[in-house]
Amino acid sequence: MKPSLNTSNDTTEHQFEALLKALSLSYLIDYFIQSGIKVTQGYCYSVVELQELLKLQKKFFPFLNYILNVFKEMGVAKITFEKVEFLINAQPLSSATLVNQITLRYPEKKAFITKLSHCINEYDKALTGKIPSIAALYPGGDIHFLDPIVSEMEQLSNLHWFERFLTKLLSLRSKDGFINMMEVGGGMGRLTWPIIKNLTSKNIAYLFTDISRFFILKARETGTKEQIDFIKFAQFDITKTPEEQSFSPTQMDFILAFNVIHATPNLDITLSNLYNLLKPGGTLIIIEYTELPTWAHMLWGLAEGWWYFADHYRQITPLINKRNWKEALTTSGYKKIRFIPKHEKYTCPLPLTAILAQKPPIET
Ligand SMILES: C[S@@+](CC[C@H](N)C(=O)[O-])C[C@H]1O[C@@H](n2cnc3c(N)ncnc32)[C@H](O)[C@@H]1O
Repeated sequence: MKPSLNTSNDTTEHQFEALLKALSLSYLIDYFIQSGIKVTQGYCYSVVELQELLKLQKKFFPFLNYILNVFKEMGVAKITFEKVEFLINAQPLSSATLVNQITLRYPEKKAFITKLSHCINEYDKALTGKIPSIAALYPGGDIHFLDPIVSEMEQLSNLHWFERFLTKLLSLRSKDGFINMMEVGGGMGRLTWPIIKNLTSKNIAYLFTDISRFFILKARETGTKEQIDFIKFAQFDITKTPEEQSFSPTQMDFILAFNVIHATPNLDITLSNLYNLLKPGGTLIIIEYTELPTWAHMLWGLAEGWWYFADHYRQITPLINKRNWKEALTTSGYKKIRFIPKHEKYTCPLPLTAILAQKPPIET
């Protein structure tokens, strides 16, 4: 079973992606200009001066580092020894003009662009601490505010393939014997419910966990509504050991971590906490983006945890490339590390990668 190449509307998607890239840069330039920073050729600032002009909270210093890296890659600025020299010599199109052009050309993407614009227009409040940054993503606590963006990301990714893959894997394994399964960082259960509803064998105990009580309560409501009796719910923080949280170690046959491990500061610590939860022979299934376009970093950069990374595997963004995943998993003792899809040719515009890694069985 291989993820299929997403060929639908390839050219249109490519053109849209190119426009989004231009729009992202334009948003960033506008944000700097609105903060009183001169971005035309000849203007030069130290990184500290930029932090001050943008009134950035310290936790967002890595975000500025990311923005400067985008500027460097797009030829907007030259960066040498903490000095940023701007290179723009013509008036760039404003983000408002680009938004108009894009929504006229792609009316079906209007909700997506509107939500993205909303979040980025909140930078001056969210990155300075005038409002919690999460409030820019979910204004008024509306957890469905970003639905158009989440569904766009899903459509552009190979998520549905992974739903089928995991359902089949767990159905087959639980037919052979009872399995203990734990999901960490389950959040809104984007993978949980499609898998659970389609399992053909119910010979399984599924423990849904998240660091946030809010998501546990939401998941419990869904589990009750759907009358699923083999699922349990608990709070669990993957940056802490199982023992610290009164969890017994070595109990799980499978651990699923979808889109969560990148949000932790130290990969070695997180991976060894999960290793301790696995039975010998148990498998950790990680599903993550290994790269994302600029607009996604600009959006999810407002989410708690996005800039927490503080290990030698990450410098500019929280995402982990395949080479670093392999190194980190090996360091924590995992064996039989497999990547799915194996080859880049199966990619779609926003490819997710699954990384399967085994805690070695006890040798007899
Ligand atoms: C990007 S969301 C992904 C949620 C879910 N897996 C999905 O894709 O639908 C990340 C989730 O990880 C949770 N999370 C963040 N840090 C965590 C930690 N240290 N331990 C456990 N969960 C964490 C968040 O509360 C959030 O629900």
